[in-house]
Amino acid sequence: MNIGPIKDLGRVFDRVADAYDAGRPGYPDELYRALSEASGVDLDGATTVDIGAGTGILTRALRVRGSQVIAVDPGVEMLARLVSKTAGEQGTPVAAVLADGNALPLADGVADLVTYAQSWHWLDPVSSIAEARRVLRPDGAIAGCWNFNHAAQAEWLAAYEARLAEAVPAYYGPAVEEWSVPPIAAAFEVIEERWIPWTRLVGIEDFLLDLRSHSYMAALSADRADELVEGQRAELRKAFPEGVLSVPMRVYLAVGR
Ligand SMILES: C[S@@+](CC[C@H](N)C(=O)[O-])C[C@H]1O[C@@H](n2cnc3c(N)ncnc32)[C@H](O)[C@@H]1O
Repeated sequence: MNIGPIKDLGRVFDRVADAYDAGRPGYPDELYRALSEASGVDLDGATTVDIGAGTGILTRALRVRGSQVIAVDPGVEMLARLVSKTAGEQGTPVAAVLADGNALPLADGVADLVTYAQSWHWLDPVSSIAEARRVLRPDGAIAGCWNFNHAAQAEWLAAYEARLAEAVPAYYGPAVEEWSVPPIAAAFEVIEERWIPWTRLVGIEDFLLDLRSHSYMAALSADRADELVEGQRAELRKAFPEGVLSVPMRVYLAVGR
C-alpha cells in the first residue's frame, strides 16, 4: 500500500506515540454526559467517527459506552497502538482507518456523531467540517474537545507552563498571552460550548511522559528535550516530594452541526 502523503500527516505524533500512549490523560465522565446531552445523541448504540483518534483515548471511552467507533488517523504508529489496545478489550467493534480527516474514505450519512478529541486544529478548518457533515446522518452532530492544564488554578502549574513558554520555541499553551481554544465553534453551527473542570492525579514520571508527547517537544532535538524534562523533573520534585501531582484541568467541549 502506498501511504506516502498519509505518512507525512501522521509524522509529528508517530515520533512520540509511546509517550502519548503512556502519558496522556483521558477525559472525565462528565465530558461524555455533556456530549450526549448537547448533541442529543445517545452514545449507547451510536455510530461515531472519531477523527484524529490517535492511540484511542476517546475511541475506547466511547466504545465502553456502547458506541460503534470508526477511528480515523493518518499516524501509522498512533493507530497501531489503538488497534493493539482495543484488540484485547471487550466491547463493540472498532474499525481503524488510516486516512486523512479532510478526505474521509467513508460513505455519506453513516454516522450519528463525528468527534475530534485534541485533533481538529491539525485539520483543514473548512474541508474537515464539510467531510464531517457529509458522513453524518441528517440529525447527527459534530463535537470537538480539548483537555488543558488549568494553569490559573495552581501556582506550581503556572510556573511549569511559564518555564515551557520560555524554553521551547514552538510552545503554545496557557502561558502564551495570545493563547485561545481552537476556533471550531466558528466552523459550524454551534449547539453548545462548555468548560468541564476536573482534577488529574498523576505521578511525576507519567506527567513528564505526557510532556514529551506534545508536538512542541517532538520538534526539539533529543538532547534538548531530555535537558528540559530533567529541569521540570527537578522543580516538580521540589514542589511534590511525595511524587504525586494533583493537576487542575479543564476540558473545552464544542458541539455543533
Ligand atoms: C493530539 S492527537 C489526539 C489523539 C486522540 N484523539 C486523543 O484524544 O488523545 C492528534 C491526532 O490527530 C491526528 N491528525 C493529524 N492530522 C490529521 C488529519 N489530517 N486527519 C486526521 N487526523 C489527523 C494525529 O496523527 C494525531 O494522532
